[in-house]
Amino acid sequence: MTEKHRKILLTSALPYANGAIHIGHMLEFVQTDIWARFQRAQGHECYFAWADDAHGTPIMLSAQKSGITPEALIDRMQEEHQRDFRDFGLSYDHYSSTHSPANQQLVETIYKRLREGGHIERKTISQFFDEEEGMFLPDRFIRGTCPKCKSEDQYGDSCESCGSTYAPTDLIEPRSAVSGTAPVMRDSEHYFVRLGDFEDRLKQWLTGGQLQKEVVNKIDEWFADGLRDWDITRDAPYFGFRIPDTEDKYFYVWVDAPIGYMASFLELCEDRGLDFDEWWGPGSDAEIYHFIGKDIMYFHTLFWPAMLMGSGFRTPTAVYAHGFLTVDGTKMSKSRGTFIQARTYLDHLNPDYLRYYFCAKLGAGTSDIDLNLDDFAQRVNSDLVGKVVNIASRCAGFIQKRFDNQLAGTLPQPDLYQRFIDARGEIAADFEGRNYQAAIRRIMALADEANRYIDDHKPWQMIKQDGRDDEVQAVCSQGINLFRVLITLLAPAIPHTAEKASRFLGVDVGPWSDLDQPMAGCAINAFEPLMARIDPARVEAMVEASRESLKPASEPQAPTLDLAEEIGIDEFLKVDLRVARIVRAEHVPEADKLLKLELDLGGETRTVFAGIKSAYEPEQLEGRLTVMVANLKPRKMRFGVSEGMVLAAGSGGADLYLLSPDDGAIPGLRVT
Ligand code: 2FM
Ligand code: ZN
Repeated sequence: MTEKHRKILLTSALPYANGAIHIGHMLEFVQTDIWARFQRAQGHECYFAWADDAHGTPIMLSAQKSGITPEALIDRMQEEHQRDFRDFGLSYDHYSSTHSPANQQLVETIYKRLREGGHIERKTISQFFDEEEGMFLPDRFIRGTCPKCKSEDQYGDSCESCGSTYAPTDLIEPRSAVSGTAPVMRDSEHYFVRLGDFEDRLKQWLTGGQLQKEVVNKIDEWFADGLRDWDITRDAPYFGFRIPDTEDKYFYVWVDAPIGYMASFLELCEDRGLDFDEWWGPGSDAEIYHFIGKDIMYFHTLFWPAMLMGSGFRTPTAVYAHGFLTVDGTKMSKSRGTFIQARTYLDHLNPDYLRYYFCAKLGAGTSDIDLNLDDFAQRVNSDLVGKVVNIASRCAGFIQKRFDNQLAGTLPQPDLYQRFIDARGEIAADFEGRNYQAAIRRIMALADEANRYIDDHKPWQMIKQDGRDDEVQAVCSQGINLFRVLITLLAPAIPHTAEKASRFLGVDVGPWSDLDQPMAGCAINAFEPLMARIDPARVEAMVEASRESLKPASEPQAPTLDLAEEIGIDEFLKVDLRVARIVRAEHVPEADKLLKLELDLGGETRTVFAGIKSAYEPEQLEGRLTVMVANLKPRKMRFGVSEGMVLAAGSGGADLYLLSPDDGAIPGLRVT
């Protein structure tokens, strides 16, 4: 089994840093991890490097809502994500964040090269703008009535009710999902990548590569529609990297996300002393594969290679798309308890169960994968516990009790062992082609054969017959060797179990070439249970917990203390906080969240539009003292100019508490 040494870099799609990992994510991460472990077991140099996808409007808004900085939010999520990954046994070499200096530098390099190559164009576009929040609205943050079927409260780009897609301007009565106000159209200059410049090279890359048939078909449709210029700009406020030579324009998150693949690997190169250019430079002989979901093909097969082509880097060897995960035949559902977070799964079940099930169901194509919870328990119990682990437990007892853990000096049926290891070629080809389900079918057929061998020789009967001890030892040694082959072939899928098996066998379960030599004349260790059966009650408990974790909390939750970045006293003193009296408060017609406040600052009056309507009626506020930021630059809003800000605690909604000084304070007093 000698094959040339390959240098392989793998990535999974970068999960967004504003949500927990769920089992839908895990399908892809496990698919990638199995491939990585498989390649390493063939002796190849294989790295798996990726990151959290940290930028974009949703992350900015979700941090705002929790009252923390985006940096604090993404740090917390990155830690949580990695804990889930480690506990699921993902063997990645490096995990970073797209919000990293390495990524910023690469993003700027790639952008500047594209610009120097003449591939960037500027155009003024008109978009919906939320005047209250002072921000342009991404399509997903605009809601309104579907122009086709008239369903209310649909997204700005597509209708969930009738499935039609449209421009946000087609919506009837559009509203900002951020402030609830009606957005206005506003112009802004944007930077575009001229995708058409790369059409020929993209076509060459797509046809010369190893892309899946269904992916190529999809891309052909896109080519037929014509390649449009790609808008890579987002206006401030935005959490991301600023575009060089602009004041308030940021790179769209989908620019720096795939570059994050490279940046993460660059950090790994620095850690391990690898030569980055040997991997990503032009003419590199390394192989680079991106594992992704089929919904993000456009970004990976058009935008991403075009960015690389335009900046002098090599393109990926292939992009492998998989289908979506369904549970019990339908989309994961919060109310049914099938929207299962990785952590909830881990709280109830062994990660190898799910890794195995995914492996047994994954093929090379893009069709969806169903996790049927009954089938899951049955399949794991019958394949892994009933067939594979059973071989070891049937043989280990005799070897331990009767032969002092010593294996026979030779195998009684070397031909059978040889057939098992000869299967490596076909099984490796299945794994290589990402046809994991075929690999599992072959491995399970071997497991059946191994069990038949033991059934045929019946060591439990032989042991009762005088003079047959050697035979018992030989049969059980054969069985243990067959088990070793099986667990080695399965190790990429079930690494935790393989690790236990390593301890039991007294040899590392790893490189497939180690199997060339059977274990003979050596000692093994005491058998420890390698895997328990799945108790269906645990599966039910997990579903229940997934349902429950979404029930609204009845008690107020203690906030997570994620402090904002440290500042010096000088910076703090720049904020001029004053006691103010609310002289008048009134509703703002058209604004869902705002109250208009007239504030007496002692000597001067200010008008402030405050987003506190969800918690206060105007009449509750009149006459009350509060604290305001008095030196905030006035902000022009659709309803007038807001000349400051009042201070309140909480995350919005009913959970909002206006701050007040003790009685006796007078308007205008400085707060320090
Ligand atoms: O779709 C997503 O979840 C994105 N966060 C994937 C990014 S993959 C890559 F381009 F970085
Ligand atoms: Zn509709």
